[in-house]
Formats: sequence, C-alpha cells, structure tokens
Amino acid sequence: MRVTVIGCGYLGAVHAACMAELGHDVVGIDVDAEKVASLQAAQAPFFEPGLPELLERTVASGRLRFSTDMADAAGSQIHFVCVGTPQKRGEFAADLRFVDAAVTALLPHLGPGELVAGKSTVPVGTASRLAAMVAEAQPQALLAWNPEFLREGHAVVDTLTPDRFVYGLPEGGAGERAKALLDECYATPLSRNTPLVTTDYQTAELVKVAANSFLATKISFINAMAELCEAVNADVTSLADAIGHDDRIGRKFLNAGLGFGGGCLPKDIRAFMARAGELGADQTLTFLREVDSINMRRRIRMVDLAREVCDGSLIGKRVAVLGAAFKPNSDDIRDSPALNVAAQIRLQGGEVVLTDPAALHNARKALPDISYAETAEEAAAGADVVLLLTEWQVYRDLDPVALARVVRGQRILDGRNALDPARWRAAGWTYRALGRPRS
Ligand code: UDX
Repeated sequence: MRVTVIGCGYLGAVHAACMAELGHDVVGIDVDAEKVASLQAAQAPFFEPGLPELLERTVASGRLRFSTDMADAAGSQIHFVCVGTPQKRGEFAADLRFVDAAVTALLPHLGPGELVAGKSTVPVGTASRLAAMVAEAQPQALLAWNPEFLREGHAVVDTLTPDRFVYGLPEGGAGERAKALLDECYATPLSRNTPLVTTDYQTAELVKVAANSFLATKISFINAMAELCEAVNADVTSLADAIGHDDRIGRKFLNAGLGFGGGCLPKDIRAFMARAGELGADQTLTFLREVDSINMRRRIRMVDLAREVCDGSLIGKRVAVLGAAFKPNSDDIRDSPALNVAAQIRLQGGEVVLTDPAALHNARKALPDISYAETAEEAAAGADVVLLLTEWQVYRDLDPVALARVVRGQRILDGRNALDPARWRAAGWTYRALGRPRS
C-alpha cells in the first residue's frame, strides 16, 4: 500500500519506519526540515532502541522517504496523523493546534476512497469534528480513529507486535471500507493473532486516555502505599510483589519510586480531566487530580530525603544525579521526574553533577546551570550523596565497592527501587529509598 505518516516525532517516525518494514511504500511528512533531513539520511533524531537499524534498512530499500511538502501525501491510501497534542501552556487541556493544522494541510491533497487515520491522543469528540472537515473537503474520503499504545524505549516492538488494535469507525459502508484499509495495512504474520476492537470514534478516543489514566492510577496507588510504608518502616517492594501475585491486580506498573513522567501520562490525565469538565462531568475524574498530586509529591519527598541524609541542608553539598530521561532506554526529558528533582536540589543550594547514558544533550539545554558528567563514576567523584533517579541498567549494575572509592560520603538514595539494599549496605553505604525500611 502507499501510506502517509504526518508528524515524525516519537510516534510518527517509528510508525513510518514500521509501516515500511511491513512492506508498504511510506512517505513521512513533518514541518521540521531538520528532522526530515535527519530521517531521510536514516538518522533517528532521538534515542529509540531498534529504530536506527530499521530506518537504515527501510530508507535504503526506497520504501521509506521523508518530506516537508504535504503535496507528497497525494495518492496514499492511508494518511496516518501522528502529530503531538501537548498540554496547553498554563492549562490542563490538550493543544490541538498541530492536529488541526495537519488535517487542514492534508485536505486539498485528499482523494476519493482514501483514509485519514488518526493516531494522536486527542480529547473525545475530536474525531467527529475532523470527520466533518474531511467530508466537506472530499466527500468520498474516510476517517478512522486508530489510537497507538506504544511505549518509548519499546516503540518498535510495540508497533510491530501490539497488544491490540483499536479502530474507531464511522457507521455503515464507510466504516467497512475504513476497516478494510486498516486491516490490509496491518495484515502481517505477526499481527494475525492480535485482538481487534472495532468501535465508534468516541469510544476509540476514550480507550487511549482511559488506558493511560489506569496506568497512571496504578503507579500512584503503589506510590501512596510507599508513603504509608515510609511512615511505618515497611517495604513497598514486598507489598507490590505480594499484591501483584493476585492476577486480578498483576505486578506490572506497581514499581514504586519517583513516579511517572514523559510526554504522555502526565499531560494525558490532565487533558482528560479538562475534557470531562467541558463535558459537564467534572466530578467523574477528580480522582485523577489525586493521582497527579501523589505523583508530584514523590519528587518533593526525594529532595527532602536528600536534605535529610545531608544533615538537614543541601547548601554546598555535592549531589550526583544518575539519570535525566523520564525512564530508561529513552532520551526524552519531557516532564522528567529526575530532571525535576535535580532542578529542585540546585535551587536548594546543592551542587548537582548529573549523568545519563542517552539524554545528556537534552538535559544540558533544559538545565544549563548544573554540571554534567559522562559516567556514573565521574558524576559520583567527591559526591556527598548519590541519587539514582532513572533506572538504566548500567546504574542497576553499579558496583557499590568500586563506587565507594570515588565518593566523599557513602550515601545512596534509590529513587526507583532498582538496587539491592543489602548489597549496598554491606559495602558500607547508607542506603535509602522511597517506601523501603531505613535499615
Ligand atoms: C505510556 C504508555 O505506557 C503507553 O501505552 C502510551 O502509548 C504512552 O504513554 P511511555 O510514556 O513511553 O508510555 O512510558 P511508560 O513505560 O508507560 O512509563 C511512564 C512513566 O511511568 C515513566 O516515567 C516510568 O518511569 C513510570 N513508571 C512506570 C513507574 O513509575 N512505575 C511503574 O511501575 C511503571
């Protein structure tokens, strides 16, 4: 098939490369000329495991190209809309500027029988509004809502082998035609056994924000338990293991620590609350406000803990921060808990030296007034306290005996419950974590 992917960020670039991998002839379109040039040279503009190899293969094969010109969308059977929907400045609501601009720019190039497939995370009601725009410009064209559930760091695998497909379709024959196009696009041996939920536009839009709200709630639930564990010197990791054995609950997304960040969960739950308010259902999602506050409290608690172990003041203390990305295997620092903690420690007079295996270039731009180091050992040199804030495997694998030789004070705060407390304590460290016993 000939396929357009509009928006080449984390979602779009991966989607475009994966569609080309499935054998389609794909053009990725983005307004950012630099990003397009980089992708056309088969260089991933961000860190995502597996993407560089995939880009290299698909660009070289000629099945994938990139452009800034929307006219290149002409003739595709499916146009995927993958642009961002960030949080509006100073508000909770999602900013739909990029979605509206993408669809508006596409309309003049849309041919009969072609499908516009929305993948961006949008407030419920957006798809029917866009469908009306499409119908007015090209009455024979179709629109479907086809949310994407990929996780950064696993984006290629999640796109090629998703847990499920969700199609939000119009009624009647148009819905059948839209479904046939999506089926044809995704038909691969890998996806043959993938569950498919076909539904209406509004349910498909809600599925995505409901899933992210549930995941965020699960994380904040366990972090609330961590707060209680701290109050009574109990262990939240054992608690999570124990409740997670109940398969109605499940162990996934019960890792207590610094909480969630990134470009999706925080802004999606806020946009969901804002949309519920607009729909007159303000009360329905007030629990998400609590989910958000529990999450933000964990960052404050981490800074308090750092101050506590530094004898009540961070002024002049050298603080090694391991991790800047919002999670491992990503260079994304959007709403990163790690970076937020680093900034707060700096504000309280700490001398922060931060390291990250992939996100240093982004962190340097966002937080220019702290110091940076290439490795954990360099960051920890002369440190009064070491903070593990993003659980990269290299930090999980750190040797407590070797690290002890470079620090000034043997204090480690494990913001992700990623280390073995017994091992660090045996090597002479004061080990503290969120939601775990003091000793
Ligand atoms: C999320 C959803 O998982 C994905 O389905 C959706 O498409 C986009 O949003 P992503 O933001 O890439 O994906 O990351 P995810 O792996 O979900 O982690 C989100 C945040 O939660 C990270 O900051 C992570 O560190 C944190 N987290 C996750 C926890 O604090 N504890 C956990 O148990 C799991």
